Amino acid sequence: MVFPEYRPRRLRRNSAFRALIRETHLTADQFVYPLFIMPGKNRREEIPSMPGVFRLTVDQLAGEARECLQLGVHSVILFGLPEKKDGVGSGAHAKNGIIQTAIKELKNKAPELLVITDVCLCEYTDHGHCGCLINNTVDNDATLEILAKTALSHAEAGADMVAPSDMMDGRVSEIRATLDENSHQSIPIMSYAVKYASAFYGPFRDAANCSPQFGDRKSYQMDPANSREALREATLDVDEGADILIVKPAVAYLDIVARLREEFDLPIAAYHVSGEYAMIKAASEKGWIDGDRVMEETLLSIKRAGADIIITYFAKDMAKILQNR
Ligand code: PBG
Repeated sequence: MVFPEYRPRRLRRNSAFRALIRETHLTADQFVYPLFIMPGKNRREEIPSMPGVFRLTVDQLAGEARECLQLGVHSVILFGLPEKKDGVGSGAHAKNGIIQTAIKELKNKAPELLVITDVCLCEYTDHGHCGCLINNTVDNDATLEILAKTALSHAEAGADMVAPSDMMDGRVSEIRATLDENSHQSIPIMSYAVKYASAFYGPFRDAANCSPQFGDRKSYQMDPANSREALREATLDVDEGADILIVKPAVAYLDIVARLREEFDLPIAAYHVSGEYAMIKAASEKGWIDGDRVMEETLLSIKRAGADIIITYFAKDMAKILQNR
């Protein structure tokens, strides 16, 4: 078909036509809202580089959960700021650690909320790396057992799903085996299969106080220049038993989301990370862009690229707009 027989504008004439042929839709069900939990009582601290996002004490979680559920956001992912850190991240699997306490509180006060936990050591190590160190390098195999212990402690506290974000090789099978040996066969693993060594994590590292104290994460997170390697990483995690694959960050890596969508049939999640959120907020505060419209267009682009699930700090803001339509 060519012009003048074919006129694409015919189907753009009014909003009913546009809605009729719309290919991609955002739904709050498929958003995952990240929560930062800190020690203390009765406090909410706004994160300076992430306006509208707060660190919460455990007693604030019931209210937060209620707000999410009312907006149709049924899933959260938890990040913890422990009381103290050490060389091997013991706080990550402490029985009454910050995350374990938060999971119990949420499951107690809002049992229908899906509680996902980030499994990583960087928030719990004094050196800020995602694993334990041997001779000043992050030791892959020594870290696996600690990660599996952490995932198990989350499952025992009542988490619905665990999400390892450390990028150690072999951690999905180690976590799967440990969960299964302890009767947690039904807890799925949402693996950060493709996670890049990205500068877009800057605000998160302020929020969770987890910047590496020396060096960087390039020896375990992926090189932003690589896409074939993403397929190898994803294949490994699928073979090790991952249930959902995450690509992170999202917008700068939409090609990777689209490639994974084509190559794999597991559900795919994209993490719209802190820096991606912060840029939109900052430009919007300056009046340079329409923040709400850019938010929606951005989230749509992630969906259109092929993500089923979007992990985003915009979850509540976008859900509010969807609810009021
Ligand atoms: C690691 C982790 C990070 C993020 C999620 N999990 C930080 C990192 O790898 O340095 C970043 C999320 C974001 O930027 O929003 N536990």
